[in-house]
Amino acid sequence: MNQVFNTDILKGKVAFVTGGGTGITGGVARAFAEHGAKLAITSRKEENLAAMKKVVEDGGGECLTVAADVRDFEAVQAAVAQTIEHYGKIDIVINGAAGNFLCAADQLSPNGFGTVVDIDTKGTFNVCRASFDALKESKGQILNISATLHYLATPMQIHVSAAKAGVDAITRNLSVEWGRHGIRVNGIAPGPIEDTEGMKRLLMPEIKEKLTKKIPLQRFGRIEDIENAALFLASDAASYINGVTLVVDGGSWLLGTSLM
Ligand code: COA
Repeated sequence: MNQVFNTDILKGKVAFVTGGGTGITGGVARAFAEHGAKLAITSRKEENLAAMKKVVEDGGGECLTVAADVRDFEAVQAAVAQTIEHYGKIDIVINGAAGNFLCAADQLSPNGFGTVVDIDTKGTFNVCRASFDALKESKGQILNISATLHYLATPMQIHVSAAKAGVDAITRNLSVEWGRHGIRVNGIAPGPIEDTEGMKRLLMPEIKEKLTKKIPLQRFGRIEDIENAALFLASDAASYINGVTLVVDGGSWLLGTSLM
């Protein structure tokens, strides 16, 4: 249980979370439930959803699960409709669904590049677009999870860098276009976060120790660090924050600390 914020700061809110079954976004979803939000989580994988539903319900929370691929706009629309039918509204949308693998640009196929852009960037747009009416109604907000990979350049990650740059652009554009409807749109850019599926796959253990010394705060991020940032941005304490992507990386990208 996260101890930084009062447990009722999201009381009465409904959060629709993509990629909310596992990893960083799974942690954020669980933290939101612990702080009073009712959840609707989506993922392509039914088994990831069932495990998170159990965690949330064992903790006394509510969790609707809807299997959907964010690349499929009709499936996203159906998931949004199901959430509204179940809870009556959506207050917070979290775009966490993402695809990732390491591949050098000269080995990557156009379809490999496009697949990650479709999941991360087009998927984020699809979910925002499908939720617009509901968010306008609730004067809600969107939280997009991106990355710091594209601030400089990250070898073997051209596809993810391009995709996440697109996500940051969506955050800025929608904050300007939808602010007048009372919808806040922000993002979080996590740096290297330990104990995630992505990091286990992307980071060879032998370089983790070496890399830790290059991080200004001398440690990897924890999922809890991202949970805290998300809780803050979703709370009323951030009610005048719009169009920001909050970097949560211990200061790493400023030094160009590369994972590769
Ligand atoms: N290296 C190079 N190319 C790869 C690859 C890899 N490791 N994995 C997939 N690709 C390419 C495929 O070859 C294919 O291109 P092609 O048709 O030209 O051969 C393209 O990407 C699509 O692959 P496919 O497996 O059909 O896509 P998918 O929709 O089933 O899976 C991925 C999406 C590729 C992102 C997959 O890695 C995935 O689902 N990952 C789980 C979620 C995840 O990554 N989460 C992120 C945690 S940080």
